[in-house]
Amino acid sequence: MDSISIGLLGLGTVGSGVVKIIENHQDTLIHQVGCPVKVKKILVQNPSKSRDVGVDAATLTINPEEILNDPTIDVIIEVMGGVEDTKAYLLEALRKGKNVVTANKDLMALYGSELLAAASENGCDLYYEASVGGGIPIIRSLADGLSSDKLTKIMGIVNGTTNFILTKMSQEGSPYDQVLKEAQSLGFAEADPTSDVEGLDAARKMAILASLGFSMNIDLDDVLVKGISSITEEDIKYGKQLGYTMKLIGTAHRDNEKVEVSVQPTLLIDSHPLASVQNEFNAVYVYGEAVGETMFYGPGAGSLPTATAVVSDLVCVLKNMRLGVSGRNLLTPQYTKQLKPKES
Ligand code: NDP
Ligand code: HSE
Repeated sequence: MDSISIGLLGLGTVGSGVVKIIENHQDTLIHQVGCPVKVKKILVQNPSKSRDVGVDAATLTINPEEILNDPTIDVIIEVMGGVEDTKAYLLEALRKGKNVVTANKDLMALYGSELLAAASENGCDLYYEASVGGGIPIIRSLADGLSSDKLTKIMGIVNGTTNFILTKMSQEGSPYDQVLKEAQSLGFAEADPTSDVEGLDAARKMAILASLGFSMNIDLDDVLVKGISSITEEDIKYGKQLGYTMKLIGTAHRDNEKVEVSVQPTLLIDSHPLASVQNEFNAVYVYGEAVGETMFYGPGAGSLPTATAVVSDLVCVLKNMRLGVSGRNLLTPQYTKQLKPKES
């Protein structure tokens, strides 16, 4: 391969980070994949918008077909968000033999198995590390690093926006609305932040982690969800006086093939390691029968941390292309899920 051309869908918080890392770490990429990597076309909604990353205006397009029909584009990176149109674009890309990297947990939680099947049928890779935990390599750790174990529990903080809000409310006494605005301006929140504060974003991530970690198809509807919008400054203050810290905790538990998955605001005793996870940082405990307890920690949202996960997926895809082993996506779940009845 003389060079690799990428089609980028989206140039917002994450997309800008992807462009910056591909430019600034070009030497690393050449070392890793053996040739230069360049972003050839970028899909946006508004090409005349001012951006915090310098791109040639000629690379911007509002027409997805300019990217999907370009035979010189080998890999599509999807960082635009959305579900139905985005799914259609990615299915079209896969059918055209293009490998895909996505950061889209809404899409993967709803249609992950369908998209992975389409990728494999077309001999393509579909990687989605950035969909959970921002810059933390949690997907790869479940899929590869812990793949020989039988996992029993996954528990942690998987939403950066709510952790940022709860941290600022607790430490600085800042009002909820003000901190939510701050999280939005820092690029942590979703386009519609309701999905962050009502726990849906965390629920999507827990469905992805539980499906992968327990090798079952866990759907979004299987997750008990409660967000933080009804948590008051008083709840946080009284918890603090008693030595507890409020966190939005996701838990997926497997017990003799019975599974329960939930996302709920939880008062953690201050000495609990998750109680000290601050701002947009995430942390996930994974328990396995053989390995025991492992913990993954890092920035759970934001431009460059998330883009690191995206571009690292790109490196994997390009290495697979070079070795001629694309399309080996982990597909068939080993177990049929049996859900415990939901209790709130
Ligand atoms: P932004 O809203 O910042 O950026 C979205 C980008 O996609 C913009 O460039 C926008 O164009 C473009 N876009 C959106 N819809 C369309 C459309 N229908 N057609 C063409 N272009 C479109 O989002 P983020 O970068 O924050 O998030 C992107 C994805 O990454 C989402 O799936 C999100 O859940 C996920 N993610 C985000 C993280 C974060 O920290 N922000 C972390 C992990 C995952 P324009 O610029 O012209 O408006
Ligand atoms: N809105 C998400 C969060 C982005 O705050 O965690 C990272 O997935």
